[in-house]
Amino acid sequence: MVAPACILVVDDEPRSVEVIARILREDFEVLSATSVEQARALLENNWVHAIFCDQRMPGMSGVEFLAEVRARWPDIVRMIVTGYTEPDDMIDAINQAGIYQYITKPWHPDQLLLAARNATQLFTMQREYERLSLELRLAPPVVEGRLRQQRERVAGSYHFDSIIRSPASPMCDVCRQAAKTAVFDIPVLIEGETGTGKELLARAVHYASQRSAGAFVAVNCGAIPDDLLESELFGHRKGAFTGAHANRRGLVEEADGGTLFLDEIGDISPAFQVKILRFLQEGEFRPLGTNETTRVDVRVLAATHRDLRAEVRAGRFREDLYFRLTGMVLSIPPLRSRPADIHVLAQHLLDAACARHGRHVRGFAPGVMDVLVRYAWPGNVRELQNEILRMLVLAESDCLGLDLLSPMLMGVGPVTVTPQAPLAAEPTVHDSGTLQERMDALEADVLMETIARCGWNKSLTARELGLSRVGLRAKLERYGIVPDAGKQSLQKGNS
Ligand SMILES: Nc1ncnc2c1ncn2[C@@H]1O[C@H](COP(=O)(O)OP(=O)(O)OP(=O)(O)O)[C@@H](O)[C@H]1O
Ligand SMILES: [Mg+2]
Repeated sequence: MVAPACILVVDDEPRSVEVIARILREDFEVLSATSVEQARALLENNWVHAIFCDQRMPGMSGVEFLAEVRARWPDIVRMIVTGYTEPDDMIDAINQAGIYQYITKPWHPDQLLLAARNATQLFTMQREYERLSLELRLAPPVVEGRLRQQRERVAGSYHFDSIIRSPASPMCDVCRQAAKTAVFDIPVLIEGETGTGKELLARAVHYASQRSAGAFVAVNCGAIPDDLLESELFGHRKGAFTGAHANRRGLVEEADGGTLFLDEIGDISPAFQVKILRFLQEGEFRPLGTNETTRVDVRVLAATHRDLRAEVRAGRFREDLYFRLTGMVLSIPPLRSRPADIHVLAQHLLDAACARHGRHVRGFAPGVMDVLVRYAWPGNVRELQNEILRMLVLAESDCLGLDLLSPMLMGVGPVTVTPQAPLAAEPTVHDSGTLQERMDALEADVLMETIARCGWNKSLTARELGLSRVGLRAKLERYGIVPDAGKQSLQKGNS
């Protein structure tokens, strides 16, 4: 509960003091003094918000005393109570003491209460104003400090170390090269399939560059038609086209002093290639609807999922633009060609998803990682990220089991071709032997194909083929299917 405001009543006439005090006590804490000396002592020892003071007092007038109060305790709201209609010099005196209100006798109790409420409210507002003014004075360094911390946190999360990879990953070379390139103000082209982390790498380059305090502005050139892309990038003036209701700064200008990331640069039309080329050559551009050129200082990073050299050879991408963009080329290998990364990335992405969604899952059940490593990941890290989130959503224990994997990974989808895991053979129709022999050979092929795809996980294979574990084991023994180096050579027909 907020303590009531405190009001001091000063009058040499004890009865007057008592009458005023009684009225104010309804809403306030009231102190009373019948002399100036007593009033001073109370002010020195109490937190007073407002004063009602009588004008006619022996020794010192009310206005004189309130002038003294103003000098010593300027925050206290001062009111004078007087029985006379005062001449002009009295008004001057009142101004000198900075009196908030003067109340003439005879007063009405409501008038007194209203004056007291307004006065104490004024006191509170003055205090609040002072507090805010003080905060405002302190604000620039505080805000600056917070901004710096925020900037450091963002830069920290886009450091090359935040690109998760195994110690022997080909990504280590890519990151080393990128880190070297970052400090040179040259254009960089990042190649890689969708979801391999091109934008992540581009951000790391930006935050490791001398432009890290500037903006990183990403534009997806592939997703936008030419005219919209032009206005997005270079901005427009009001009325430049139907719907241009106001001036608009382009993203190129937003990136001034920082980095402009042209994503999916391989997808832009030949006409727009010319516009980008002109901008890269001249460092200036013309917003739509103007004749004036604007100059900016940006570093351009670009990315593509296409083989841009092949596009140049095929005549679909301008060679001169290609050379403008490729001060350095960084190529991110697809996820399927770096199986060791799948292990560390899966665990990292699981931990990150758990932290974001407040879940507690330790890791993966045996066999899951084998399936993850064997899958082709056409959507690369983004697809892995989605798969793990999906598993986490479905999880009912603290360990992600094989049963949570999407059917896509369990067979119908693409299967990896890596040196570690040759593509399992499709079942083939056998064209010699008796019907039984041909059926057995086909059954062996189906078993072989399924168990290889399931990463030699017997429960999973049994479930997929509608067999019990014991039944599966009997069939594997019968056909001599074993997960060793010679596993592909089936010893068929030894029943
Ligand atoms: N090595 C990595 N470590 C951690 N996260 C990664 C890594 N590679 C990619 N990611 C994550 O995967 C997702 C896809 O990455 P990003 O958007 O950078 O890929 P991209 O190559 O630009 O994809 P697209 O071609 O579809 O634009 C992002 O959430 C990114 O943070
Ligand atoms: Mg991208």
